[in-house]
Amino acid sequence: MTSMLTGYFVVLIAVLVAVLVKRRRDELRYFKKLGIPGPEPNFFWGHYDKFQENHIHWLEKWAEDYGDFYGIFLGTKPLLVSTDVEFAQYALVMNFSNFVNRAPLLVLQMSNPNIEGFLSLVSGEKWKKLRSLMTPAFTTRNMKEMLPLILRGAEDFIVNLKKQRGPFDIVPLVTSLSIDNMGRTVFGIDVGAQAQKENSSIRDTITKVAESSMTGSLDLLVNSFSTLGYGFKGVFFYLSKLGIIKRPDDDLCAMLKNIIGSRKRAEKSNNLLQRLIDASEDNSTSTTPALSEGELVGNSVGSYFVGVDTTSILLSYLFFCLGQNQDVQDRLREEINRYARDELEYYTVSKLQYLDSVINEVLRLYPPATGFNTRQAAEEFKFRGTTFPAGLNILFAVSSIQRDERHWDEPLEFRPERFEARTNNRLAFQPFGDGPRNCVGMRLALMSTKFVVARALQKFRFRSYGNVERIPLTVLSKPGRVLVSVEPINDDDLGAYRAV
Ligand code: HEM
Repeated sequence: MTSMLTGYFVVLIAVLVAVLVKRRRDELRYFKKLGIPGPEPNFFWGHYDKFQENHIHWLEKWAEDYGDFYGIFLGTKPLLVSTDVEFAQYALVMNFSNFVNRAPLLVLQMSNPNIEGFLSLVSGEKWKKLRSLMTPAFTTRNMKEMLPLILRGAEDFIVNLKKQRGPFDIVPLVTSLSIDNMGRTVFGIDVGAQAQKENSSIRDTITKVAESSMTGSLDLLVNSFSTLGYGFKGVFFYLSKLGIIKRPDDDLCAMLKNIIGSRKRAEKSNNLLQRLIDASEDNSTSTTPALSEGELVGNSVGSYFVGVDTTSILLSYLFFCLGQNQDVQDRLREEINRYARDELEYYTVSKLQYLDSVINEVLRLYPPATGFNTRQAAEEFKFRGTTFPAGLNILFAVSSIQRDERHWDEPLEFRPERFEARTNNRLAFQPFGDGPRNCVGMRLALMSTKFVVARALQKFRFRSYGNVERIPLTVLSKPGRVLVSVEPINDDDLGAYRAV
């Protein structure tokens, strides 16, 4: 009797395994059925291992092998990769209403209740409401009001540069600068990462959060088994919400909740959190604010992490490129000094066109953030005669598009002048994404970068050494090294430099 039962059990398991294997094989034939080429997926994790290892490299390699449209799988989740700029224009800009949502790639991040409601992760109507509340926080007027905060960060950066002797890694310095700038502009907190104040536990928090994102074997597991992954997501979410799992950003969020409480009662200040509180209250028709406390925390914390990582990557590459291209550096310094001799004013620095071109050229060669933009099709659509199904996840491989010689002459050359008379398709350059769901923090990112670079070049000549890797994902969890040295430009500074 027992052996019969065991026999039935074995048969049952075998049937179940066979059904699951068949189902998975079918799922992995998704693109074959649509007639879209692509690399052969691994049965267990599709292409997730390669994506996690270095997606920038693999996306470029696959584009060479399969062309402008190809399919890959993150686990069993299909992802149509495109390097076609007209298709990007079609989806991101012209037919946005069918492509409002991002492809849900960040399963673990979505399971974090601390950033529940973060603009970048939400969908549909919720996104529309939040976006309309957040956009006004980044107007020119608000940027101008935040400028003194950025200038304070830039001055501390100069102090730290003065302390350097010989070649040094600039990544930790620009990361601390970004932590300070974002701390002041997003929360109104003086983190003091550059001055190395005790309060820098926030810095440790950021590093821990970055380390826990999209790099570990848990991520590989969760993403390899989509259904299981969504189960995990729910479990993580509730265990974190109940305080059973402790997250690295819990303390920061608890601190922010206190700040929000006191901000509502205290005098107004110039930062994103304050703008969100104001917008939320102005926008509420009843006594209930338009944004819950959780959404206020989630959006300020989310913006903070995103802002620190992206702006420090941009600055790292900027100083590297300037150090390698002394002619560009000279021309840029000359432009800065011609228009903004002593004080750096908002309008003068905004008018510096060569500075724009230099920053754009760095963003083209080394797009920070992830190096790709994603969308999900809400409904079936037709592009160039092919019908694509509803629910399709699409990834625009920005890092490949921005180095494509069909759009850029000698794409690997660092030539800021190419932006002075640009005639190629607008979507050949999309470091901040494009269309209504582009980067909401773009103005803040550009303003802070311009002022930091202008101040630094007025004070120092930069040289850089060796080569840089194209750092994928994040400087915080996978820090690259960018070796530079600095020489003071004028005699006063030289004195101070010797005295340190
Ligand atoms: C050099 C710096 C930055 C780069 C390169 C960058 C890039 C991007 C990209 C590529 C996207 C996706 C756009 C799309 O899907 O079309 C994005 C979205 C976003 N970024 Fe940035 N970003 C930067 C700085 C910032 C800063 C400083 C903040 C906030 C303070 C910020 C907040 C956001 C948010 C909230 C979203 C989601 C927008 C939405 O879903 O509506 N970013 N960013």
